[in-house]
Amino acid sequence: MNYITLNNEEKIPQLGFGVYQISKEETAQAVYEAIKIGYRLIDTAIAYDNEEEVGDGIQRAIKEGLVTREELCITTKLFVHNVVNYEEATKAIHASLTRLKLDYIDIFLLHQPYGDIYGAWRALGLAQKEGKIKSLGISNFDSAKMIEFVKMNDVGIPQINQIEINPWYQREEDIVWHQKYNVQVEAWAPFAEGRQGLFTNPILLKIAQKYKKSVAQIVLRWLIQRNSVVLAKSIRPERMKENFEVFDFCLSDEDMKEITSLDQQQSAFFDHHNPEMVEWFMDRIENLQPGAKRW
Ligand SMILES: NC(=O)c1ccc[n+]([C@@H]2O[C@H](COP(=O)([O-])OP(=O)(O)OC[C@H]3O[C@@H](n4cnc5c(N)ncnc54)[C@H](OP(=O)(O)O)[C@@H]3O)[C@@H](O)[C@H]2O)c1
Repeated sequence: MNYITLNNEEKIPQLGFGVYQISKEETAQAVYEAIKIGYRLIDTAIAYDNEEEVGDGIQRAIKEGLVTREELCITTKLFVHNVVNYEEATKAIHASLTRLKLDYIDIFLLHQPYGDIYGAWRALGLAQKEGKIKSLGISNFDSAKMIEFVKMNDVGIPQINQIEINPWYQREEDIVWHQKYNVQVEAWAPFAEGRQGLFTNPILLKIAQKYKKSVAQIVLRWLIQRNSVVLAKSIRPERMKENFEVFDFCLSDEDMKEITSLDQQQSAFFDHHNPEMVEWFMDRIENLQPGAKRW
């Protein structure tokens, strides 16, 4: 496993296991299997509604001696209904610690660039000072928003920005901006959840055959060689293992370049600036926290 050193000197495994869209019933077992295979970075979120089960999987792995707490790097995220003000964010941070059954969380992110992000960031900063969180980050901030946030907040520079990056949406310019501000990018949906036939794309298949690897392995390796931290999700242990075996080969410059040709320069999911999407997120605040004060 490769490790990347963040701007606060904390180390993060370059490849992690994501639990988005894994049901409550399956999460504890999936996390346990992933740790058994060797994953040390686990990515959950309040919005995934499976923090408690992530905690169960972690506890089981530690109890069975597969891993120590210190070897793990656990990430979670405040969702929009937690980012309405400082107090709500503080409550949510402590609730996550309880659900995950942890004394500290390695990385806590603001899941979306909406709401009272400055108030929530202060709550995260205080929890970090108290030793409850090691590293802080943001997610789904575009480069312009990231720069504004770095310049305007009075807590500190985020360690990470977790954003969509995959062969359809490669974000070359965004990566350069994040390097300039020393904010590590972390790729979500590296396979674009299989959208647009990613696993059967002819260019990716051709490169996969050349290295005797799968398309999934080629995509993860491509992201690793672009110095991104990468999160992959699978519910199946054989795929978790396959996705983990990406440190024993190297893509040539030529093949890296060929993958560049797949870039469509737009999200395979949705645009965070689309008014309908913003409206959807705002509705989540009302639905998830009735009566919450709106700014
Ligand atoms: N910050 C954010 O807003 C945000 C948004 C989305 C995701 N994330 C994080 O990023 C993680 C990864 O993203 P994601 O889960 O959306 O999508 P993803 O990892 O791009 O794709 C997951 C899909 O690919 C399939 N898959 C996995 N490995 C495979 C393989 N080797 N061969 C064939 N199919 C394979 C999985 O199916 P099976 O499970 O059936 O194997 C699943 O359907 C999430 O779990 C989450 O932690 C963050």
